[in-house]
Amino acid sequence: MSGIPAIAVLVSGSGSNLQAIIDASERGEIPCRVGIVISNKADAYGLVRAAKHGIPTEVVSHKEYPTREEFDARLVDIIRRSGAELVCLAGFMRVLTPVFVRAFPNRILNIHPALLPSFPGTHGPRQALDYGVKFSGCTVHFLDEGVDTGPIIVQAVVPVYDDDTEEALAARILKQEHRIYAMAIRLYFRGRLGRKGRRVLADGETKIPEFFHRNPDA
Ligand code: GRF
Repeated sequence: MSGIPAIAVLVSGSGSNLQAIIDASERGEIPCRVGIVISNKADAYGLVRAAKHGIPTEVVSHKEYPTREEFDARLVDIIRRSGAELVCLAGFMRVLTPVFVRAFPNRILNIHPALLPSFPGTHGPRQALDYGVKFSGCTVHFLDEGVDTGPIIVQAVVPVYDDDTEEALAARILKQEHRIYAMAIRLYFRGRLGRKGRRVLADGETKIPEFFHRNPDA
């Protein structure tokens, strides 16, 4: 294929983040192409999205592997053979073991629908509503061996309204996920992501101005 680097995207469901990444790639906004899409679920709509863009797909059902490690080893094998330089988890609903994480050090990104370290794990929007925070958002981070604990690359903030349902808040967050995932991939390929301990520093990127938002805006 072309000389542009390939990424592997792992999905379990709708794949709207995958779509945002494909679109950003086709528009030339990120310097890479989606080389393979892998799902643990055969009916994931993300597979249909990939096929519509002529992107190769693989289904690896976790149910066919006796241990998480064996499942992960199979994923590693497929990704290595695809030649992908970066792995993007986009709504991939399996916890990955060190077998996977250590195979691609600092080369796996994940997106989470909350402002980490708040509300890790499943149901980020519901946890935010139940807790009663006035702002939530989303986070793209490097994967480490914990659940949603890796170094943070980009975050975006959204307000939480009094009349929000879980679905309404999740939709507001998802819209921002689509923007920041492509952004994080762009930063990654620019090779500008410096590290200072846990802090990921986007050298040379514009700083947003200091701001003050309050919610409610009374
Ligand atoms: C997103 O909210 C993502 O943050 C979470 O799962 C959801 C996946 O959505 N990990 P989609 O499949 O990309 O539409």
